[in-house]
This record gives sequence, C-alpha cells and structure tokens, in this order.
Amino acid sequence: MRIDYLKHGFGYKHKNLILKLVVITFFFGLAFKLVFFHSLPQKFVPLLEHTFPEKTTIVPEHQNTLVSEHVPENEDQSTNTEKCDYLSGDWVPNPKGPLYSENCNHIEPYQNCLKNGRPDREFLYWKWTPRKCDLPSFDPYKFLNAMRNKTWALIGDSITRNHVKSLMCMLSTVGQSVVVYEEKGFKSKTWHFSSFNFTLSVIWSPFLVEAGIVEDINGVPNSEIELHLDKLSSKWKNQFMNFDYIILSCGKWFLRSAIYYENDTILGCHSCPKSNLKELEFTFAYRKAIKFVLNYIVSSHHKGMIFYRTFTPDHFENGEWSNGGTCNRTKPVKEGEMEIKYLNKMLRDIELMEVENAVIEASRNGVNLKVVDFVPLSLLRPDGHPGPYREFHPFDKKDKNGNVQNDCLHWCLPGPIDSWNDILMEMVVNG
Ligand SMILES: *[C@@H]1O[C@H](CO)[C@@H](O)[C@H](O)[C@H]1NC(C)=O
Ligand SMILES: *[C@@H]1O[C@H](CO)[C@@H](O)[C@H](O)[C@H]1NC(C)=O
Ligand SMILES: *[C@@H]1O[C@H](CO)[C@@H](O)[C@H](O)[C@H]1NC(C)=O
Ligand SMILES: *[C@@H]1O[C@H](CO)[C@@H](O)[C@H](O)[C@H]1NC(C)=O
Repeated sequence: MRIDYLKHGFGYKHKNLILKLVVITFFFGLAFKLVFFHSLPQKFVPLLEHTFPEKTTIVPEHQNTLVSEHVPENEDQSTNTEKCDYLSGDWVPNPKGPLYSENCNHIEPYQNCLKNGRPDREFLYWKWTPRKCDLPSFDPYKFLNAMRNKTWALIGDSITRNHVKSLMCMLSTVGQSVVVYEEKGFKSKTWHFSSFNFTLSVIWSPFLVEAGIVEDINGVPNSEIELHLDKLSSKWKNQFMNFDYIILSCGKWFLRSAIYYENDTILGCHSCPKSNLKELEFTFAYRKAIKFVLNYIVSSHHKGMIFYRTFTPDHFENGEWSNGGTCNRTKPVKEGEMEIKYLNKMLRDIELMEVENAVIEASRNGVNLKVVDFVPLSLLRPDGHPGPYREFHPFDKKDKNGNVQNDCLHWCLPGPIDSWNDILMEMVVNG
C-alpha cells in the first residue's frame, strides 16, 4: 500500500500548553513541531488554530491575489497581457464528462474511486474554464501526433504518479503503448507508443535531490531520511538531457524527519528528537533543495521544455490525515470559499519565489523553463479526492472504532487532475 506521506509517525514531545493546542487542531504539525511557531506573525495564529475555516465570506487580502500570483512565462510584459491566463478561471459543468472511464487499467486501485464504491458521480462533470480565453479539452490524438519522436518525463512524488496515470488513461484512448522500463515496486516506469514513437516516463524522486530512504514493506521510511541538499537525485540526473519535455515537482515529503547534508557534511536534522543534531526547519531544506535543482536546470543548456509544477494542496477537513480529517464534499467550491491551509501556502510561497527567479534566469540562458501552478484550480476541488474510497468498499471493513483512513491529497481518476492535461497541452502544442 502506498499513500506516501500519509503513513508515517513522528516522535515528538510537547513543550508547552500553546503547542498542545496547536497540535490538536493542526496535527500535521508533528512534522514541524515548534519549528516555525516561534516566528509566526500574530495574524497567522488564528489560522493555525482553525486550519480549515468552513467558509470565508471576508477574504483576506492575501487570498485575493492567489490566482494572479503565478509567475509570468516570460519577461516581456506586452505579450503577457495578450496571453491567456489559463490559471484564472472557474469549474463549469461539463455534461460530456471525462475522456476515459474507471475501466482504464492504468488507474491505481487507490485512486479508482468509482470502482472502490464512491457513490456520487457529480465530481466527474466539471471542466476548468479560463475566464478570458478558450481552453480546448485535451485531444489525445493531437497530442500524440505533435509529440512524434519525443520523450516526456514526469518527475516527483505520488502526485506526479497520479498525474501520469491520468495522462496515460487519456492517451490510451487513441494509442497503444508498451512498458519499456519498470522499476521494482512500480515507482518509476516508462511507456512507449510505437505508432507515434512517443515515450513517457514517470520517475519517482519525491525530493528531486538525492535522498537515502530506507523503507519498510509498506513504503514507510523506517529510519531518518538522509537528504543531500546539494546533489541531484541520481534517479533523473543522468537522463535529464535526453528528455524533450520534463515536469518536475516535489512537496510534502520535505515535512518528514530527515538529516540534512551539504557537501557530505551533516548540517542538522529536522524532527529528530532522539538525536543530538541541530534542529533545522523543513522550510530551510525545501528552499535549498528547490534552489539547487532550479540552478542546475537554469544553467543546463537543456533544449527542450521544462515545467516546474507547484505542489498541490490537500483538502482534509475537520481534522488532518491522522486524526479523522475527511473530504466528503461532492461539488467544487467557488473562489474564495476555501482558504489555502497555512502549511500549503507556506510551501507554495517558497516554490513560487524560487521559481520566479529561476524563470527569469533561464530565459537569459535560453533555457525554456515554465511554471505550472495548478494550486488555484486544485484548491477549488475538495470533491475530487478519494476520501475513504482509496480502498475497495471501505465501509465493509472499518476498524474496531468504526474509522476509515481518508485520502484527501491524491485525486480520483477520472477526476479534476485530468484538467491539468488540458492546460499542459495548450502550453505545449498550441504555444
Ligand atoms: C524515435 O524517436 C527517437 C528520438 O526520441 C529517434 O532517435 C528515433 O530515430 C525514432 N525512431 C523512429 C523509428 O522514428
Ligand atoms: C521521427 O524520426 C524519424 C527517424 O529518425 C524520422 O524519419 C521522422 O521524420 C521523424 N518524425 C518527426 C515528426 O520528427
Ligand atoms: C567540501 O568538503 C571538503 C572536505 O570535506 C572541503 O575540502 C571543501 O572545501 C568543501 N566544499 C565546500 C563548497 O564547502
Ligand atoms: C462529512 O464529514 C463530516 C465529518 O467530517 C460529517 O459531519 C458529515 O456528516 C459528512 N457529510 C456527509 C454528507 O457524509
């Protein structure tokens, strides 16, 4: 079973009453304990205590800027104003529904919500629609045809794997593929569509930088991860120049306990109460790792197209993944109705800042680096996660307390994540 960051335990000890309160409402905070609590501006404290306001009628200023915050694709402001902003839009009803069904055999059981017994189907009938321009639906034939002789790689964590399965299901409606490479445990895989000579790889590298992860049989790290903040992951480094199109992303794995290294020297550790190492915030490692990866790309002379995809928000409500949080909505929400959680915003802000700088630098170097920020549109889809339906008929086998584990991070397939491909295709095929 594999639900990545959802399954892990952290040792911790609470140090004071305030922290206790925070831990109760913000249990995910185990991963970062006191770390940033000290440095929180006063206005964020209510946010921490109520991580998930049901509805916000008064939208704080920083939220209004959410959708317009993403990075321009190039420095030329005059073309920017004419370019369509695909990321500012709405989910509108789409009676046509998804391009593929729950019978697509690429869908992992954990994300096949319909087969697992999810009773409502309305979440399938929405299309992301930019306000000021047309966004055609993903056309698998047009895509494959445009991608003759090309290779794609999607590099990242389990959300990336979720995404690649969506893409594979769409492409498989028009083309036959064969698996040409498969890593033990199915984490990295390559398919080839021979009629189009198109190659698609998914590479599991949840930190993008080199990480020593020792996992138990359930895929849960059983000792502290050793994270080298100044080494690219060997999982993708050597192949990097061979891919024509690359989508990179990382995210929540950085919340885990890890020992941070630079130049093979221990800098400190995040969330290792048993060690005597200097405690470092995960934000320190996140920023440093992203910066390092982007620096490499920017000066790489890569001739293809590279997307950096921002990490996607979860939608656990009334709790977090570990203490009964659920996501049982059946409709998208409207912009401003759902606030991005503090932690998600914090991760995303780091990414946006680093990527913004890198995009400018890349364009100076002739490297085609773009940001895809699916956060604004993903945020509005709390209805698109498996919730309890990550398992087959979950309510038949509740634990003794009557609880089931929810997944409000990954996405049902078919589901909202399919829209990501509409946008990518538009950026790639139609310029
Ligand atoms: C397939 O594409 C690769 C480049 O990705 C190219 O080297 C090769 O010649 C192509 N093969 C055919 C049969 O077109
Ligand atoms: C694909 O590669 C083959 C062999 O190298 C070449 O003959 C063909 O023209 C290429 N097709 C495209 C669309 O680039
Ligand atoms: C890395 O460590 C080696 C010795 O361990 C040292 O000689 C070198 O100066 C260090 N490099 C940097 C950039 O810190
Ligand atoms: C959704 O979950 C909440 C608890 O998290 C529960 O109170 C509510 O009744 C649920 N709604 C439905 C429609 O099941």
